[in-house]
Formats: sequence, C-alpha cells, structure tokens
Amino acid sequence: MKLKYFSHSAFQITTNEGKVILIDPYITGNPTSPVKVEDVHADYIVLTHGHGDHLGDAMTIAERDNCLIIAVNELADYIAAKGYNAHNMHIGGGYNFEFGRVKFTIAHHGSKTPDGEYVGEPAGVILSIDGKNIYHCGDTGLFYDMKLIGEMTPIDYMLLPIGDNFTMGIDDAVKAVELTNPKVAIPIHYNTFPVINADPNEFKQKVEALGKKSIVLKYGEEIEI
Ligand code: NI
Ligand code: MN
Repeated sequence: MKLKYFSHSAFQITTNEGKVILIDPYITGNPTSPVKVEDVHADYIVLTHGHGDHLGDAMTIAERDNCLIIAVNELADYIAAKGYNAHNMHIGGGYNFEFGRVKFTIAHHGSKTPDGEYVGEPAGVILSIDGKNIYHCGDTGLFYDMKLIGEMTPIDYMLLPIGDNFTMGIDDAVKAVELTNPKVAIPIHYNTFPVINADPNEFKQKVEALGKKSIVLKYGEEIEI
C-alpha cells in the first residue's frame, strides 16, 4: 500500500489492489499543495469534518470521478443533499468497505462548512487496509481517550496535527503519541498558514526522545507502508 502526503491534512492511499482513497482533499486554495485538483483521482474520499481546509475539493472530485464520500452522518447528509454519493457513519462505528475498514473516532473541534452549515461532530478516522491501521486524527485537541483508541486498535501510522492554534501544538501532539503508542507518527496540519507555523523536526525529535519513530513527509512525497 502507498501513502502520499499532499500537505496540510490531505493524503492519498493507494491499496495493494489499486483502489485510491483520499483523506481531507484540500487542494484548491491550499498554498502548500504540490498538485492541482485535475491531477488527483479517487475511488473513495474520507472526510474528518466540514471545515474548508478538510472538505476541500471533495465534491469537485466526486462530481468528476463519481466516487463515494465517507463521513459522519450530518456531513454525509450535506454531501448527499448536494447530489453526491455518500456513506453515512458516526463516531465509534466501523464499516467494512471493499478496500478495508473505516472507523470514526472522537475529535475535539468544530465542523461548519464553508457555506455556513453545521454538519455534526468532527471526527478522527482509523483506516484498516492491507493489514495496517492508519489513524488520521483530523483536527483535534489532545484527549486522554487516545490511549483507549491505541489499546483497542494497535496503530501503525498516526497522522496527527501539530500546528497549534486550531489543534494540538507540538507538545500536546507528542503526548498524543505517547498515549496512542503508534509504530510511526507523522505530523500534519502545520505551516499551511502563518497562524499554524510549527517545526515538524522539533516534533520528530521530541517523539524520538520517547523512543518512538516519526517521519516528516515532504509535500507530494509518497511512501510504501
Ligand atoms: Ni478544522
Ligand atoms: Mn483544519
């Protein structure tokens, strides 16, 4: 399986069978995106919440590729009302899709769309694909239940925000890694805008000081996982 980082919270997963899953595809208007929306294709899109920097180009891509958008109930209803295919889920629930399992977790944040609609609770998401568990935390502050999340689902790759202001900053994110105990921690949601400037290498060093592994992905970098 391949994991590609587009910057901010946006990722592309390509499964061993060649299915493409996007997470929070914020490309247009993202000053750090290395790609244009025309270059990105999807079979599935997973959304953590409705903020513009996460909903991103989801509906543009869905319009073009006819992909399925997976989100918590209120956000999925919003997307379905706009005419796109959506699969409604909610926090604590998992579902086995053709490509693997998706389970939503809590996240402490907000969830309003760019056109002003509140679309339920924000979420994190655990994707279990090709024998690996990937936990994308979405936007969230630190919470102690990350320990429970890691106990219930041993996490291989934890993708977690470090940019502060709207989410965890570096020190809270390091604590999140300690609680969740993933094999690898990947920092996200930083340096997209000045207000969330953070040094990913400081995060990496602090995670390594715990005896844990961290990888700082470059914008557009793809790794085999
Ligand atoms: Ni947000
Ligand atoms: Mn955000």
